[in-house]
Amino acid sequence: MEKITSLAKRRGFVFPGSEIYGGLAGVYDFGPNGVELLNNLKRLWWKANVYDKESHYGLDAGMFKHPRVWDASGHTTGFSDPIVECRDTQTRLRVDKELEAIGITADEKMSTTELQKLFDEHKDTIAKRNNLSGNFTPVRAFNLLVKSNLGDFASEGGDPVYLPGEACQGIYLNYKNVVDSMSPKLPFGLVQINKAFRNEISPRNFLFRTREMEQADTQLFVKPNENKDTFTQIKQDRMDWYVSIGIKPENLRFKQHDNLIFYCAEAWDIEYNFPSLGWDELEGIHDRTDYDLTQHMEFSGVDLRYLDPETSERYIPWILETSVGLGRMFLAVLADAYHEEELEDGKTRTVLKLHPDLAPYRVAVSPLLKNKPELVEKAREVFTTLKREFGNVAWDDNGNVGKRYRRQDEIGTPHCVVIDFDTLGQEDPANADTVTVRDRDTGEQQRVAIADLVRRLK
Ligand code: GAP
Repeated sequence: MEKITSLAKRRGFVFPGSEIYGGLAGVYDFGPNGVELLNNLKRLWWKANVYDKESHYGLDAGMFKHPRVWDASGHTTGFSDPIVECRDTQTRLRVDKELEAIGITADEKMSTTELQKLFDEHKDTIAKRNNLSGNFTPVRAFNLLVKSNLGDFASEGGDPVYLPGEACQGIYLNYKNVVDSMSPKLPFGLVQINKAFRNEISPRNFLFRTREMEQADTQLFVKPNENKDTFTQIKQDRMDWYVSIGIKPENLRFKQHDNLIFYCAEAWDIEYNFPSLGWDELEGIHDRTDYDLTQHMEFSGVDLRYLDPETSERYIPWILETSVGLGRMFLAVLADAYHEEELEDGKTRTVLKLHPDLAPYRVAVSPLLKNKPELVEKAREVFTTLKREFGNVAWDDNGNVGKRYRRQDEIGTPHCVVIDFDTLGQEDPANADTVTVRDRDTGEQQRVAIADLVRRLK
C-alpha cells in the first residue's frame, strides 16, 4: 500500500487533500493522471450500466436534500459506527474494526450491548495493539452523517441539511419523476455516479476508507418477490465487469453478509484482495426490498406505488442495488496493475499494466532529441495526428529516452512512439517515415510506418 500511495503521488495520480496545510484526514485530490484514470473508469462503468443495458436511465441528483429524507432513510437514527475513546489520550477506535483485526467476528450492525460484551472480553488485547492504557469510555454509536448550515441564516443549527450519507437516496427521490416523464416498464434501472460523505471515525488505507467519496450506483426497480434470478445475474455481471477492465479474477471473490440490515432480503459484497489490508469490500450488492420507497411514501405523503400496466395493480417495486465507491475501485485497479520487474542490468522497473481503455494516456510521443528542430517538427506532426485520433496523447521530451520510458511505464501508457533520425531518412533509407513503437508490457520495439500508425495502435 505504501508503494502504491507513493507512486500515486509521485506520478500525479492522487494527492493528500489540503496538503500544504498539513492535510485533511480522509480527503484526497485526484491529480492530472488520476483524473484521467478516474474519468475512464466512470466512462466504462457508465457504458456497462446504462448503454449496454435495456431500460437503464442515468441521473444526476443535487447533493443537498430535504432534511426529512434522512429521517425516512433511517440515517438520522441508525447510520452509525460503534466507537470507544481512550480517556487518557483521546484516541478514538472503531470497535467492530478493532475486533475484526484480532479475528473476532463483528460488524457495525450489531447492537451496542453485543459489541460492548465482545469489546470487554478483548479490551486488553485491543489496548495493547494500539499502545493504549485500556482506560476506555463505554461503546457508543457515533452517527456518520455530515451536517451543513445550508439555509441556516440565523445559525441556530436545528433541523440541519445533511450532506448525502449515500448517493442512492437521490435516485429514490427521483423515482416518481422518472416514472412520470419516461414511462418505463418494470424492471428498469436508475443509474448514478454522485458524491457521498461520512464522518468516518478512522479513515485509513489511502482511498479505501475516506470521508468524501463518489459512489457509482445502479438501482434496479423490479416486481416484488420476483427477483432471485435477476439478483444472481446482476451479481455475476458486476463480477464479470471487473474482469473485463483487467482485474485479475484471483483477486476478486463474492462474500455473502451473515448479519443482514433489517430491511435487506439478501446482501453480498464483491471483495478485492487489497494490498496490506487483504480481502475487503469493493462493492455492495443488496436486495433492499420495498423499504426505501415505502419509507419515502410514508414520510413524504406522496403515493409512490407503481401502476402495473398489465394487471392494473398498484404496488411498491423492490430495489436491487449495486453500489461501489469510485475511490475503492481506483485503488483496486492501481493495486492490480502495479508490477515491479527485475531488469537485466539489476535495476527494477515499476510498471502499471493498466487496461489500455483505462490508462491516462493511450500513447506518448517523443522526439529522440529535443534540441534537434527537425526531429521535434516531425514528432509534433505525429503527435497532432495521434491526438486528433485518440485525444489523450502525451508529449514527452523530458530527459533521455530511457527515462521517458520509465516515466510512461509508471503511469501505464501502453505505447511510446519515438521519432528518430531513421524517421527523417537520415540513416537507413528503408526506415524513412517510420517510427519506433515500444510496448509497455514487453518492452519490445517495432518500426511502424507513420501512414499505418493509427491503425496499428488501435
Ligand atoms: N447505498 C448503499 C451503500 O451506500 P455501502 O456498503 O455503505 O452501501 C457502498 O457503500 C460502497 O461505497 C462500498 O462497497 C464501498 O465501495 C464504498 N464506500 C463506502 N464507504 C466508503 C468510505 N468511507 N470510503 C470509500 N468508499 C466507501
